[in-house]
Amino acid sequence: MSDVHVGSGLFRQDLLEATIEESNALEPDLVAVVGDLTMEGYRWEFEEAKGYLDQLTCPNVIYSMGNHDAKNVGYRHFEEFFGIREESFEIPVPEGVAKVVSLDSTKPDLDEGEVGREHYRWLDSEFRDWDQGPKILMIHHHILAVPGTGRDVNNLRDAGDVMAILRELKVDMVLSGHRHVPYVWSISGVRIVHSGTVSSMRVRGTMPPSYNVIEINDEAVRINLREPGKDADQPLASFSRKPITTSEFYPDFDRFVLYDRLPFLKE
Ligand SMILES: [Fe+2]
Ligand SMILES: [Fe+2]
Repeated sequence: MSDVHVGSGLFRQDLLEATIEESNALEPDLVAVVGDLTMEGYRWEFEEAKGYLDQLTCPNVIYSMGNHDAKNVGYRHFEEFFGIREESFEIPVPEGVAKVVSLDSTKPDLDEGEVGREHYRWLDSEFRDWDQGPKILMIHHHILAVPGTGRDVNNLRDAGDVMAILRELKVDMVLSGHRHVPYVWSISGVRIVHSGTVSSMRVRGTMPPSYNVIEINDEAVRINLREPGKDADQPLASFSRKPITTSEFYPDFDRFVLYDRLPFLKE
């Protein structure tokens, strides 16, 4: 889920409470809350958001920062209420152990985001040799454009470099929010899963508030859309667990474009 937006006049407590109740009934291995917990980054908004989200009974609830959480130096409150802004987790799942990295793509008081070259080596060290289960990146800003959101703005400023790194590191799934429209891309073996706004009426067009229910098993990955308080799930996307691709990429060319480490640290 993402884009909770406590503090907005369009925040809907009933939708968030329904989502928490439904999530608790599902007993998932992981609840990912991918940013924009608040509207203005104010302390009282974080406090209120935590009051709700602490009712999640899942043993693994992971939070990412959103651009709204970075307003008004809100990242200080985020750290106090939700812990450090970027961290890597190892989560037990039926397949083994999932590696989940939550990354702060925000810049204070900017709507746009960036991973930044200084993070590339960290991503590399977390994901490259991980072979115990799914590799999942949580990042608020959208790496790829999301349809049905109007003029495309505010995407990750280093989206191209980040996509190349995610492909190289064979990251299975990216969980993002920010655009308030749920959508899935599967590209070069990387599944980019955007969630809508879970508990606000800051919606676009006819898209209702929603969150995603993601199921990963040995054969398949299924992503269902759920509107809080409604019973029926709608399928959003599904694909084989291991990406099937006929595309070939040529590492010799990648040397011109890949930037995964600081040049002066090169062995
Ligand atoms: Fe948002
Ligand atoms: Fe956002």
